[in-house]
Amino acid sequence: MQQSGSSNLPLQPTPFIGRSEEITEILQLLADPACRLLTLVGPGGIGKTRLALQLGTMSSGAFARGSFVVYLQPLRSVEFFVPAVADALGFSLTGQEPPLVQLGQYLSDKEALIILDNFEHLPDAADRHTSNI
Ligand SMILES: Nc1ncnc2c1ncn2[C@@H]1O[C@H](COP(=O)(O)OP(=O)(O)OP(=O)(O)O)[C@@H](O)[C@H]1O
Ligand SMILES: [Mg+2]
Repeated sequence: MQQSGSSNLPLQPTPFIGRSEEITEILQLLADPACRLLTLVGPGGIGKTRLALQLGTMSSGAFARGSFVVYLQPLRSVEFFVPAVADALGFSLTGQEPPLVQLGQYLSDKEALIILDNFEHLPDAADRHTSNI
């Protein structure tokens, strides 16, 4: 039986303002099962993280396993990428298989929205990992 949806998204101390067009457009994209990866780009401070968190909160019910955010900014090396995602999901990497294989197997039968915040300084993670997850 699939675990019911959960979340590690933070509560925001301030109200969310505007972005209604972006939210409508992105929720439509997220509703398409063929949309496996969506990237928000824009200048520093324009509101990418806040928009992603808002979307995660709004759409968590649409993903059976829930919505999660993984903060990648503190990661100094791509080797910490899979453990960071697993940690955000509350999944323990305790098996004998390589961490990526364990995480891939765990996620293979689950529907989850995983927000990867500040991915840009870990380009190797995109090449080595996300195409396999
Ligand atoms: N739509 C919004 N409503 C309310 N507050 C917002 C909104 N968008 C952004 N903010 C606030 O503005 C600040 C900057 O936003 P945010 O951190 O999301 O930007 P960012 O694009 O992710 O920046 P960076 O490129 O540095 O990661 C935050 O305090 C955030 O809460
Ligand atoms: Mg940000």
